[in-house]
Amino acid sequence: MTVNNEKQLSKLLRIGKICGTALKMMQEAVRPGMTTAELNDIGARYLYQHGARPAPILMYNFPGATCISINDEAAHGIPGDRVIQPGDLVNVDVSAELDGYFADCGGSVAVPPISVEDKQLCDYTLAALDAAINAVSANHPLYVIGQAVESVARKGGYNIIRELSGHGVGRSLHEEPRHVPNFFSKRAKQPLTEGMVLTLEPFLTRGVGKVVTADDGWTLKTINGSRACQYEHTVMITRGKPLLVTAV
Ligand code: CO
Ligand code: CO
Repeated sequence: MTVNNEKQLSKLLRIGKICGTALKMMQEAVRPGMTTAELNDIGARYLYQHGARPAPILMYNFPGATCISINDEAAHGIPGDRVIQPGDLVNVDVSAELDGYFADCGGSVAVPPISVEDKQLCDYTLAALDAAINAVSANHPLYVIGQAVESVARKGGYNIIRELSGHGVGRSLHEEPRHVPNFFSKRAKQPLTEGMVLTLEPFLTRGVGKVVTADDGWTLKTINGSRACQYEHTVMITRGKPLLVTAV
């Protein structure tokens, strides 16, 4: 969507803050011995208490209020009876709707003992998101996002999971622009415009940057079992720095 007035902005910021808070609560609650269903319940309860509806259920009939993806699972992991283990890399993704407005955010949490590899993977993926945030402003082409992510990934020797991208968001979970690539694509030359709302969500891995759908029909896993990491914010484009809709 493109935000045109204060009323739209306040509704968008409201759901953005709810999603960001649910994500933070879940990230802080991650403990070994907990099931992913228990972790999901923390976020789900917060969303429902604030009148928000989990977008994965609303839009896709996904079997969970949030997505929880562990280790080689890059995205769309189903909350369930899987027990979080020491040393796991847990990704939480929260998206929800309130009063017709949608926001989407996510982030990975390394469970102690944290390996040097996981620490670096998280640091670089977060740096890639920061670089993307710093690259976007009105009148720049969409591909500045991919350029920014690519330059950070290359510096750390990481691969980008190219099939997974950011997207427009706001009045629906996924809307125009449908694909916000995390790599340089000269076809992604449409200009960013003031008020445009989209997600920035780089996915990095040390392994091959490709995913396959698991037998459950939802979970996207890296093809060679290597760990994946993602951080995501919903942002609104301005003439300067973007507004972080899901920041708390
Ligand atoms: Co998301
Ligand atoms: Co998203």
